[in-house]
Amino acid sequence: MSSLISQVRELEFSKADTWIAEAEFGFGFTSEEVNRLNANSNVLEIGCGSGLLLSLLAEKYPHTSFEGIEPFGDGFNSLGDLNTFVKKSGVNIKNIRYEDFKPGHKYDFIFCINVFEHLEDWRHMLSWSAKQLKPKGKLLVLCPNYSFPYESHFKLPILINKTITRKVFQNYIRKFEYENDTEKLWDSINFVKKKEVKSFIMQSTSANKLSLFDDTSVIDDIIDRILFDETFRKRQQFVGLTALLLKRLGMLRLIKKFPNLLPYMKLIFIKNQ
Ligand SMILES: C[S@@+](CC[C@H](N)C(=O)[O-])C[C@H]1O[C@@H](n2cnc3c(N)ncnc32)[C@H](O)[C@@H]1O
Repeated sequence: MSSLISQVRELEFSKADTWIAEAEFGFGFTSEEVNRLNANSNVLEIGCGSGLLLSLLAEKYPHTSFEGIEPFGDGFNSLGDLNTFVKKSGVNIKNIRYEDFKPGHKYDFIFCINVFEHLEDWRHMLSWSAKQLKPKGKLLVLCPNYSFPYESHFKLPILINKTITRKVFQNYIRKFEYENDTEKLWDSINFVKKKEVKSFIMQSTSANKLSLFDDTSVIDDIIDRILFDETFRKRQQFVGLTALLLKRLGMLRLIKKFPNLLPYMKLIFIKNQ
């Protein structure tokens, strides 16, 4: 275990177990991408939260330059102390929104994990990222897919759309936000659907065009997470049990035939030359 993570555990930061588990989850996906880059490449994480994932990557790949941006958006104020602590250990993080960030160079790899569904305008973020990437550079997006009728932060079924779901569950949502210190979290969620992302990329004609690869194998990774990540299993009992049941019934291959309906998405965008 990294020494920084051991210190974070000892110092008992708010929700430290969750943020450590999230960093370890993200490490599996990003480490394999960083491993393919040349030395001295530039990597940016949008919405890096605690910053722990960047510190793990920087420890493993000392010749790569890592930067993070984290504005503590709605629902994420409680990240402040941990983020400040991680920054003091030397991780390069700016506490601003990506919309206000003006990088001085282009990137080989940009990623965001469980951030895309909180953005005010995910289409804008795709166009913005395309401009910041080098030719053939990669953007990795991991997040829930709201074509699947389940809201995983609040653990609620989606009833037709965001507005109706909010009306039906308003007391529960208010109580959840109060008890978990995540004010305005519901408002921050944009309910992005994979099929909308695909059609945006298809229609996009700008000079900074991106190609999209939809990696459905992420569902196997989520099942592994349910098996091996106790913090996640406790938080996501419904998703965990459903996925395990599907796996045991041998239905995973069948549901991958409907990629736009899978509950979680891993999208890889590559900037055209
Ligand atoms: C669920 S947290 C994920 C944090 C981290 N990526 C992780 O996996 O632990 C969502 C993050 O998105 C960030 N966020 C929301 N809007 C943003 C924006 N416009 N620019 C950059 N980050 C943003 C929030 O501040 C929050 O930290």
